[in-house]
Amino acid sequence: MTSQESGRLAGKVALVTGAGSGIGQAAAMRFAAEGASVATLDIKPELASLTAMMIDKEHEGQSLALVGNVADAVEVETAVELATAEWGRLDVLYNNAGVDSSGSVADAAEDDWDRAFGVNAKGTFLVSRAAVRHMGEGGSIVNQGSVAGLVGVPNFAAYCASKGAVVALTRSMAVDLAPRGIRVNVICPGTVYTPLMEPMLRARGGGDLEAGLAKTLLKYPIGRLGTPDEIANVALFLASDEASFMTGSVITPDGGMTAQ
Ligand SMILES: NC(=O)c1ccc[n+]([C@@H]2O[C@H](COP(=O)([O-])OP(=O)(O)OC[C@H]3O[C@@H](n4cnc5c(N)ncnc54)[C@H](O)[C@@H]3O)[C@@H](O)[C@H]2O)c1
Repeated sequence: MTSQESGRLAGKVALVTGAGSGIGQAAAMRFAAEGASVATLDIKPELASLTAMMIDKEHEGQSLALVGNVADAVEVETAVELATAEWGRLDVLYNNAGVDSSGSVADAAEDDWDRAFGVNAKGTFLVSRAAVRHMGEGGSIVNQGSVAGLVGVPNFAAYCASKGAVVALTRSMAVDLAPRGIRVNVICPGTVYTPLMEPMLRARGGGDLEAGLAKTLLKYPIGRLGTPDEIANVALFLASDEASFMTGSVITPDGGMTAQ
């Protein structure tokens, strides 16, 4: 155990959606390092397995790879059943899976709108609905919003709206689940360099990734983008009992982006 790892999730079972890449992968690894058994759900089988294998290498027997689309109710039910059957309980759910979309309200495609809402908003609802049947006192649900759910980001209409829905859903879930001892909070990160963000950064730079990056950094007082680990740290805190008085909170690890 390193000084960073002190068993903050010892004995707990966590399900992380979109665990195959970026923030979800960082969080799944961090949760396992802090003692949790972690089910890594991803729509891409090879990515779900990759993260599970990475966990298993360091913490044998603490991972379970699950394949499923969070926007599909049947696949979600199956995944949650498999996770709870494996370890007999569920304490932490990180609703991290999400997809990008592009376009302003004037030109966004209807399919993109449906996809953003299907995965980001409905996916959060479906996985939470299946998970809360198995969660009780001390449970923690961490939803993944975005600064795009709090402020307008140019040419991101469907994404902004879907993440705004996640923020509203979080508050509703927090109120409904508080009597059962389950806390629900939402993280709204600023831009983090992951595969999800590359197309957006490229588009912002007129096809030039470096130009898009430079333009984006102007929005960040801290002068850099975030890292997956920095978001995973926040997810870990909210997942752990250290955040026991926090529910319905909107947390913004965003380098000061929304402070301006
Ligand atoms: N990267 C950022 O700058 C940023 C900022 C704010 C919020 N977010 C949010 O954080 C979350 C993770 O983003 P990331 O940057 O790590 O992305 P990423 O693309 O690196 O990882 C997302 C993972 O989710 C999986 N996934 C996608 N659709 C899925 C579905 N329908 N069912 C199950 N799995 C699915 C992908 O296969 C991938 O492994 C997303 O919700 C995103 O909107 C990201």
